[in-house]
Amino acid sequence: MKPASFARTGIGTNQNTMNTREARKIYLASGNAGKLAEFRALAESAGRHWELELLPGYANHPEFEESAPTFAENAAGKAFHYSRLVDGIVFADDSGLVVPALGGAPGVLSARYAGPGACNEQRIAKLLGEMKGLAREQRGAYFVCVIAAVRGARALAIVSEKVDGEILGAPRGSGGFGYDPVFFFPPLGKTFAELQAEQKNLHSHRGKAFRRLMEVLE
Ligand code: IMP
Repeated sequence: MKPASFARTGIGTNQNTMNTREARKIYLASGNAGKLAEFRALAESAGRHWELELLPGYANHPEFEESAPTFAENAAGKAFHYSRLVDGIVFADDSGLVVPALGGAPGVLSARYAGPGACNEQRIAKLLGEMKGLAREQRGAYFVCVIAAVRGARALAIVSEKVDGEILGAPRGSGGFGYDPVFFFPPLGKTFAELQAEQKNLHSHRGKAFRRLMEVLE
């Protein structure tokens, strides 16, 4: 799987970027207020005065089915799908965990890895079960985040970032979400669930991708 294949296309320079006359207001194609808060915190910690809002009408619009085989296609597809709802910039993200020793799983299916109704603990249990007996050299993994920004029918930016780590044999830490308790980040000697939110934002796939997006759009 090559989730970053779409990345850094160079889309998003010159005529496509936001100009200084416009308010830096951009809409997140999501109904998730927690996700919005996370992106707002990322913008604030980068010192950017952007107005980030949930997309009005998101819940009433036919849902975008994230069924593509790459993060980039899902993020771009989602941004285009919802961009018709407003006359402005819409951004959408797709992210997940990739374990090369498992052929790229859970990958784009990260949220649904243990079935649609499963909880985080069940997804982690499934992952650890699949990796049982694997030596440390085979436990490498990375988180990927692709963010696409679209205005009307035009792509302004598609950025992709990743963060490398290793999958531990058992969970550690109580912060974060998803696969964080088993994602060990060697440079800090901790799992993502053992980091403060600001520390995770500094190193995470989503933090890096969003900072890159801000650079590209400015
Ligand atoms: P989505 O991008 O909101 O569809 O999230 C995909 C799934 O990937 C999440 O439900 C998590 O299971 C996993 N995931 C994405 N980013 C992270 C992260 O930063 N920590 C832990 N799990 C993550």
